[in-house]
Amino acid sequence: MPDKIKVELDGVPETLLWNLFHRAAEARRPDALLNDPRAVELVEAIDFPFEKFGKPQMAQWHALRVLCFDRAVGRFLQDHPGGTVVALGEGLETQFWRVDDGRVRWLTVELPETVDVRRRLLPDDPPRRRTLAGSALDLGWTDEVDPAGGVLITTQGLLMYLRPDEVRSLIAACAERFPGGTLLFDAVPHFMAERSRDGSLAARSEYTAPPWQWSLDPGEHREILSYHPNIAGVRDLRYPRGRGALAIAPLVHRIPVIRRLRMPIVEVRFGDGVSAA
Ligand SMILES: C[S@@+](CC[C@H](N)C(=O)[O-])C[C@H]1O[C@@H](n2cnc3c(N)ncnc32)[C@H](O)[C@@H]1O
Repeated sequence: MPDKIKVELDGVPETLLWNLFHRAAEARRPDALLNDPRAVELVEAIDFPFEKFGKPQMAQWHALRVLCFDRAVGRFLQDHPGGTVVALGEGLETQFWRVDDGRVRWLTVELPETVDVRRRLLPDDPPRRRTLAGSALDLGWTDEVDPAGGVLITTQGLLMYLRPDEVRSLIAACAERFPGGTLLFDAVPHFMAERSRDGSLAARSEYTAPPWQWSLDPGEHREILSYHPNIAGVRDLRYPRGRGALAIAPLVHRIPVIRRLRMPIVEVRFGDGVSAA
């Protein structure tokens, strides 16, 4: 058996391993909601104390979040064959292999320490799949995107770790530079971010991610619309149906109390830029 690859990350970059661990846990199940053999292979190939994350109790919930992103990417690829997906803060996501239509151009933008790990485990395959080392906040990556076939920017599990002013400027810059494009992000609701910052989430779990700095409640679309005049539409996406208690996941937006507690997954549509100028 080949030697495992040692991965040492901390702070926000380490959180990518929590996501990978939970995707792999779901993908291993006989009744898996997520078909992700590469995630399983990665966990097996990596030398990292995954047991620090405890039992993967959030695996199904995380898989539903991932599937919601996958479906949105799938819709984009149907409408824009040969279009470009830019994955900001992609970590060791294996979404490319789950959604590849044989034509998509894929650009990963990640911090250098994470790119170092990603390139060892998931080497680039240009011209269709490329990785850039740098912060998503350093907008040099926007020059690497050919907008001709359509652009979808995804930021799964990233914005909550940025400061509110950084999130606003990043979304505004995308709206400015990618007319006709789409942005997908997930967010934590305000009450969860507060509990992450005051330490009360940490007291209840074995592993705690670094504090969440930016948050958004479900349906808080006016906040996003205020970021740039070229933001033409904002909507919360529905979670797919899960197993057992999570069979109601697509309907939680209709259940009072619970609907305010969910993590929104948001699709932002940019206008053509002309009327917004
Ligand atoms: C919770 S992980 C999410 C990883 C992946 N998107 C997923 O869902 O599995 C957060 C990721 O954001 C990356 N990250 C943090 N700050 C960043 C920044 N300023 N620019 C680009 N990536 C960043 C980290 O390296 C890490 O991979």
